[in-house]
Amino acid sequence: MTLLAPSILAADFSRLGEETRAIAQAGADWIHLDVMDGHFVPNISFGPAVVKALRPWTDKVFDVHLMIAPADPYLAAFAEAGADAITVHVEAGPHIHRSLQTIRGLGKRAGVALNPGTPASAIEPLLDMVDLVLVMTVNPGFGGQSFIHSSLETVARVKAMTAGRSIDISVDGGITPETAGPAAQAGANILVAGSAAFKGGATQYEKNVAAIREAA
Ligand code: DX5
Ligand code: ZN
Repeated sequence: MTLLAPSILAADFSRLGEETRAIAQAGADWIHLDVMDGHFVPNISFGPAVVKALRPWTDKVFDVHLMIAPADPYLAAFAEAGADAITVHVEAGPHIHRSLQTIRGLGKRAGVALNPGTPASAIEPLLDMVDLVLVMTVNPGFGGQSFIHSSLETVARVKAMTAGRSIDISVDGGITPETAGPAAQAGANILVAGSAAFKGGATQYEKNVAAIREAA
């Protein structure tokens, strides 16, 4: 089954609680939360305090995507704030294995993310340690960018590599009703969408969610 994880990076930040509830009620499966530090990526978003403030607004899975380096000093804070899955980038530091161990030790689903320039083979030694692989289909840092089609090869490689294991594969960046189909076909079972989910305001969320889901 393909799950849809709208990214609240594209929501109205002055009303994040209401926005999170609205997209959940419109049919989101998971809520994707993009954490950016202005160092690993050239943008700053929000930290654990915001995750904690949003936690009471829905009981959907909180899929926290850490675009921060280092990540390790903050893993416990995100777990305590209410994250269900915590994803760290394989490029974010020399000790990705330790980060994944720490996330599992905190009782959360451990995810590893790959930038478009990183080969799928980078995560091969980590497969016993991960519950989710997030393949970036844009360069991380901003919403609203165009889908990088060559990333689908990475998705297909990750799919082949994880055969027979219960590991989710998520795609993140530029997911629209046009790109959702190819991404799902390549092997993704979780679609992260920011702009395409939140466009047009709350009256459109149900329609937006349905359009992406049907395309997949
Ligand atoms: C990008 C983030 C994405 C982003 C997706 O760095 O990781 O989750 O919010 O936004 P869209 O769907 O607009 O590309
Ligand atoms: Zn993301």
